[in-house]
Amino acid sequence: MQVLIFENKQKVAFFAAQLFKELLQLKPAATLGLATGSTPIELYKELVKLYEKKEISFSKAASFNLDEYYDIDEGNRNSYRYFMNSMLFEKIDINLKNTYLPTCNQYQNPGQQGKHYEALIQECGGIDLQLLGIGANGHIGFNEPTSSLASRTRIKSLTPQTIQDNSRLFEKGESQPQLAMTMGIATILDAKYIVLLATGEVKARAVSDMVNGSLSANCPASALQMHPNTIVLLDEAAASQLKNKEYLQWVANQNESIVKKHGYFKDL
Ligand code: GLP
Repeated sequence: MQVLIFENKQKVAFFAAQLFKELLQLKPAATLGLATGSTPIELYKELVKLYEKKEISFSKAASFNLDEYYDIDEGNRNSYRYFMNSMLFEKIDINLKNTYLPTCNQYQNPGQQGKHYEALIQECGGIDLQLLGIGANGHIGFNEPTSSLASRTRIKSLTPQTIQDNSRLFEKGESQPQLAMTMGIATILDAKYIVLLATGEVKARAVSDMVNGSLSANCPASALQMHPNTIVLLDEAAASQLKNKEYLQWVANQNESIVKKHGYFKDL
């Protein structure tokens, strides 16, 4: 796990956008793993800017989102499909037919839908770069604490904390889903590269559990310690509870010249 600490969230987003640019230049038909939440919004703005400047194209790429609420209409402004279309897909040249979310409505079997999503990812050659945020309780996707580290795409109950954390996005009186389909932790770990973004003080504890804590289903993000190519991009606030900041900074400086020479996606 490589940890890079930036002054602020704009710099985090800028660096993350450069990673996507590098990947798509190397492999225009890349399979991207995408995420929702407030954290990636700045990154999506940067990607749209790069597309408008013709520095990046998604025309041959495919995308798989981490999660989607159970039994939600895609026209519902709280659906993750709506979020992705309005924040990114409608503003770039990706073919909407190549953008996938793990959907399941009340008439479908969640088990079958999960298997179908896993198979689709395989058909597209697996995920090259998976983008992640992190929940304040250490969740990734909607893999809440105690999720199996071997889990695959499936239906999950959200914790009261996650429901509370996400309630800011719903109008008063609007019904808020309590179930979601999510890629599993093993699905996420299958990605060739992972980039996790965390910004703000509210994420500081989860970040320190992920980086400095022991591998445990109680902090699903700690599973990334098992992944060979994960880069964690933090702002100062999210990094504030890390125990070994100076060491991480030293490693980052050492790596910089290697990355400059060989690029980040050397094993692609
Ligand atoms: C949500 C999503 C996650 C996201 C996390 C943090 O519930 N399922 O994929 O990373 O919570 O969201 P935010 O970036 O808004 O803090």
